[in-house]
Amino acid sequence: MKRKIIAIGGGKGGIGKSLVAANLALVFSRSGQRVVLVDADLGGANLHTCLGMQPPKLGIGDFIFNKVPTIQEVLSPTPYGGLYLISGALDYVGVANPKYTQKLRVIRELSRLDMDIIIIDCGAGTGFNVLDFFLLASHRICVMIPEATSIENAYRFIKMAYYRKLKNSSLNYGLKNTIDEVMASASGVRTPADLVQQVKQIEPAGGALLEAELALFSLDIVLNQLRLPEDGQIGAGIEKACKKFFGIPTSYLGGLPYEPEVWQAIRQRKPLVELFPEAKASQEFKNIAQKILSR
Ligand SMILES: Nc1ncnc2c1ncn2[C@@H]1O[C@H](COP(=O)(O)OP(=O)(O)OP(=O)(O)O)[C@@H](O)[C@H]1O
Ligand SMILES: [Mg+2]
Repeated sequence: MKRKIIAIGGGKGGIGKSLVAANLALVFSRSGQRVVLVDADLGGANLHTCLGMQPPKLGIGDFIFNKVPTIQEVLSPTPYGGLYLISGALDYVGVANPKYTQKLRVIRELSRLDMDIIIIDCGAGTGFNVLDFFLLASHRICVMIPEATSIENAYRFIKMAYYRKLKNSSLNYGLKNTIDEVMASASGVRTPADLVQQVKQIEPAGGALLEAELALFSLDIVLNQLRLPEDGQIGAGIEKACKKFFGIPTSYLGGLPYEPEVWQAIRQRKPLVELFPEAKASQEFKNIAQKILSR
């Protein structure tokens, strides 16, 4: 199997990103994969707690600030066989805002680890750290809950991620000035897809390269905290809207019900799939993991 780097984001805080990251990681490791869970929520790292661990002595900050030469050294074993954690717990002022090149180095080193699956919990918001780790992964999962505020934040998150990717790619193709020009003209740029079309009209060759690269930008959706039977239908609506407004292919992976076992597991500092394997959400984590593995 090809190594997968899966990033979990979603814009809004407190919607279940860490829940999804920790439980998917455990399901994957139980299916025989070697898995690393990376806490890139640099300001609010708490994945160690989700796994019932004390903050490990070494974390991602030690690697970013060259306190250790390789990322291997900040890998902590967890109570779960085959699952490792790279903690995001902070010891250094400034680590919350690593430079782009430092993030690239983290991803490059992660992809060299002798692991099958790497899951990155990107944290909340649309800051550059969140967006960059999200974009640098090979698979992206956007978590949202079926409430207007979360959906609004998720759309903003997807749009910001797309623009960030556009900007990074435009630098590679020498199109930065053209993009600035198109954005400034504001002549009918309604969606990111529109923007690319207008750039193509001005710079056909570079624009086509940009378009080809952006066509690779896709993401998956996981809905969380479903309370009504019809809540899951929102998934298909989001797929359609992302295609129509952003020109971005998305795929709905599944929906986790709101259920007391979820917060009970968190209170007991154990992953849901470990403590309540029969819970509906645990079953859904298995379905989602299966879908990801079958690709
Ligand atoms: N499906 C669910 N059923 C019941 N409670 C849930 C569910 N999903 C999340 N919660 C509650 O929401 C809380 C927040 O979840 P989690 O920490 O995974 O969110 P997050 O998106 O990672 O938050 P942050 O943005 O702060 O990192 C959990 O501690 C739990 O109490
Ligand atoms: Mg979190």
